[in-house]
Amino acid sequence: MSKGDRILDVRNIHMRFESKGVCVRAVTDVSFPVLEGETIGIVGESGCGKTTLGRCIVRAYEPSEGSVMYTAADGETLDFLKIDKQTMKKYRKEIQMIFQDPYSSLDPRMTVLDIIKEPIRANYPKMPKEEIEKKVMDIAARVGLNTAYLKRYPHAFSGGQRQRIGIARALVLNPRVIVCDEAVSALDVSIQAQVINLLHDLQQEFGLTYLFISHDLSVVEYISDKVGVMYLGKMVEFAPTRSLFSHPLHPYTESLLSAVPVADPTVKIERIPLEGEIPNPANPPSGCFFHTRCRFCREKCRQETPEYTEMEKDHFVACHFAQELKLRGFDYGEEPDEKQQAE
Ligand SMILES: Nc1ncnc2c1ncn2[C@@H]1O[C@H](COP(=O)(O)OP(=O)(O)OP(=O)(O)O)[C@@H](O)[C@H]1O
Ligand SMILES: [Mg+2]
Repeated sequence: MSKGDRILDVRNIHMRFESKGVCVRAVTDVSFPVLEGETIGIVGESGCGKTTLGRCIVRAYEPSEGSVMYTAADGETLDFLKIDKQTMKKYRKEIQMIFQDPYSSLDPRMTVLDIIKEPIRANYPKMPKEEIEKKVMDIAARVGLNTAYLKRYPHAFSGGQRQRIGIARALVLNPRVIVCDEAVSALDVSIQAQVINLLHDLQQEFGLTYLFISHDLSVVEYISDKVGVMYLGKMVEFAPTRSLFSHPLHPYTESLLSAVPVADPTVKIERIPLEGEIPNPANPPSGCFFHTRCRFCREKCRQETPEYTEMEKDHFVACHFAQELKLRGFDYGEEPDEKQQAE
């Protein structure tokens, strides 16, 4: 397998949470492909199902329906959501998750050394102590932790350092896919940049594939090759980053983009505020889920569910009127390749 081959194929994921007779549809029929070595950003307002989707993909949750076809390091393609316990043991380590909160996701009673060691112990019970130790030291140094401090407890570390511990812990098993759930959201902006650069370097070095979940569109634009936009549990748009940001095809994406702060004070962006509240996922609207807040809503939108279709090459959208709406995105200026050249 080489860079650019399909590594994951997320197909028709549904996740319903049932409690006290109420069914919350956290994720509804989400599908998208992931190529090896790329970063897919997943964005959307709080509660739209980003974390639930990520957890379903790494199988921290058992989704109600759907499959995640995974092409493993050994070339086998299997449904990650259906494989039995024994097979799971073999492949579990290839798909890892990094969590949002570097404070609550690390066990406060374990030393950092033990925190990073633990996944190796669980997956390779026969590995000699010295070899484990060496692996931990190598990865800790690689993510920028001071190896002299590894016998300390997580509370002795700053937010940024803790996120590095989480990254080391995920990386120590040599995964191929990492789901980063708001991995930098809790950090100060300057620390955010350092951790993003670290994730980028690690991706190059180890050929990692990322699913980067974030509500911060500027971060997602910077780091992602493709972006998926979720609304009320559904994927409403999915496209290469540049295409999605320069000409969104879904009115929801247009609104999100119009709210992104722009550093250049001479650039004027007309905000397109979202009207109304996010509907209750236990009782979603009829037709298009977005119709209650859409400024282009027509009768058809109240009645019929729009199909999720490939409107342009690699650009998917679920909107009845995507073809005729003229929506506004980021103006990247005259030179379409400017950004790529600067990188
Ligand atoms: N374990 C659970 N039981 C019941 N409902 C849940 C559970 N987890 C999530 N939900 C509901 O599913 C929906 C999606 O939640 P999720 O946490 O996936 O959203 P999110 O996009 O990650 O939000 P945020 O940006 O705030 O992290 C929400 O309505 C949430 O209340
Ligand atoms: Mg979340």
